Amino acid sequence: MISKTWETEFRERLSQAYDELKWLYYELYHSDGKAFDYFCTVLHEFYRNRPDALKELDRRRLADPSWYKRTDMLGMQMYVGAFAGNLKGVESHLDYIKDCGVNYIHLMPLLQSPEGRSDGGYAVSDFRQVQPELGTMEDLADLARECHHDDICLCLDFVMNHTSEDHEWALKAKAGDAEAQSRYFFYDNWDIPSEFEKTVPQVFPTTAPGNFTWCPQAGKVVMTTFYPYQWDLNYANPVVFNDMTANMLFLYNQGIDIIRLDAVPYIWKELGTNCRNLPQVHNLVRIMHIASNIVCPGTLMLGEVVMEPSKVVPYFGTVEKPECQMLYNVTTMASTWHTVATKDVRLLKHQLGTVFALPHDYMFLNYLRCHDDIGWGLDYGFLRQFGLDEVAHKKYLNDFLTGTLFGSDMRGELYNNDPRLGDARLCGTTASLCGIEAAEYEGNSVKADRGIRLDILLHAFLLTQSGIPIIYSGDEIGQLNDYGYHQDPLKWDDSRYIHRGSFNWEEAEKRYTPGTRQERLFHALRELEQLRASHEVFGNDADTWICETYNDHVLGIGRYYNGEKLIALFNFSDEDQTAWISEDSGCTNLLTGTVCDARNYGLHSYEFVWLYKNLSVQSG
Ligand code: GLC
Repeated sequence: MISKTWETEFRERLSQAYDELKWLYYELYHSDGKAFDYFCTVLHEFYRNRPDALKELDRRRLADPSWYKRTDMLGMQMYVGAFAGNLKGVESHLDYIKDCGVNYIHLMPLLQSPEGRSDGGYAVSDFRQVQPELGTMEDLADLARECHHDDICLCLDFVMNHTSEDHEWALKAKAGDAEAQSRYFFYDNWDIPSEFEKTVPQVFPTTAPGNFTWCPQAGKVVMTTFYPYQWDLNYANPVVFNDMTANMLFLYNQGIDIIRLDAVPYIWKELGTNCRNLPQVHNLVRIMHIASNIVCPGTLMLGEVVMEPSKVVPYFGTVEKPECQMLYNVTTMASTWHTVATKDVRLLKHQLGTVFALPHDYMFLNYLRCHDDIGWGLDYGFLRQFGLDEVAHKKYLNDFLTGTLFGSDMRGELYNNDPRLGDARLCGTTASLCGIEAAEYEGNSVKADRGIRLDILLHAFLLTQSGIPIIYSGDEIGQLNDYGYHQDPLKWDDSRYIHRGSFNWEEAEKRYTPGTRQERLFHALRELEQLRASHEVFGNDADTWICETYNDHVLGIGRYYNGEKLIALFNFSDEDQTAWISEDSGCTNLLTGTVCDARNYGLHSYEFVWLYKNLSVQSG
């Protein structure tokens, strides 16, 4: 029985968090009591407006705080337009999503954003309006309701670092409004911007060089870390933080379960620094965590921190003062593609070793690729012991994965090639990066088979890791690169569009035609996902370790939970290999059901195996 009124519930949560909240807020905003009181009013207002059904959901989730840590959690990331035209289309395709076993949908940015100056929706001109072609806010709330009905949760980007130059604040700032200008970083001349440029790296060195843009209407220079039409918000101004928190809570109140904090390391700027991961960012994230815990405690924050592990992990916060509940396992993702290109698992072992040593509470989102490029943020300090040089190695990886290297069937494209630094990143769908596209083009079934095996192996590796696996929509049927963007003047200079193509529903139908690429991948993935869902050894609480295979082509991962043990082996080479392991006898190959020993195990090229033993069930 629920006896508390909503109002009491709110008061209790606020008073519990009040001291810390006020302390953090006062520290950031120089004891600005008026701004803080307004912030608390915002919390109250959004709590009052939160639909009762969502408040009930919050209560259910509070009673089951591990609700998002189940082994059957499976995410899918998609552009609404590319997947189904609009939000109603997504709703009408929920059957397909369920068929994929997906219970977590990350909808790519769908708020209002000017055509041709939207960075794929990451330049928001109105945080309370859906892009008209995609539907309305009511459609989004309807979709969330439908999803909750089916036990599916929704994730949405909150693009908080910047607004579009068409946002109402930016328009006022252009017209000379001083209050509006104080929400951004405006400078009368290039003196201070030039000082910033000395210490701040570039995000898009080729497509959008520099961190500032001249705004002719205002006759001033404005900070634009990303594209020139994405104006950085000034979070040192409490009005910005208050209004943006309100925007975030507004989205939560539409039924969004998970907010992806886009580009969160960038939100605080300080002259003389690199303007990344500054301590104030953590204060802000902590306040946002507290705010959502008060207003909508059944929701989560996912931080987008595409950086090395030592920068990522602090965004979890501490046990007493958590920040984001979930973060991307970005270095593992990049190290995986390094392993594909080198067929050498040593870096991946080292990287996984780092992740395995982290507390079980930390929840990572694992993925093979997303809507962005693959950046080569690898541990070069580690690689140097093998004589690898950073610039030369990046060139090798790119040459291999773009198929430039003789004999490579991989079909990626470069992204933001920066000749100054010898740096370039990579784009492409998983299937094309596995060689499937080239094989099909050549009509070479041996190569196609090899590519499909690699693709499945990568997904098996993804599903072996602790955390939530996220599939990019289309990868479940091996969708290939889309070169159409080359012809679109609004997209041609951004190669990320190569892997953001429209979902091909005709191809999806082929998932029932035996022997097709679609069928082979779809069914292999479903089988693996179902096995994962039904074995607790895949859960976040399992112990994980690197199982030494004495073979640099074969990755071995061990998992143990409550009597269940799993040895997972992955042969990243295109030749047959042996894993020189000496583990248990009488294991079950989870995929075939056959009983075998986990000893000196032979694997064909790009073969993997899940060897399982329930140690608490002793035979004989
Ligand atoms: C994030 C997004 C990326 C976008 C950038 C700027 O990194 O993932 O797609 O370009 O933010 O908003």
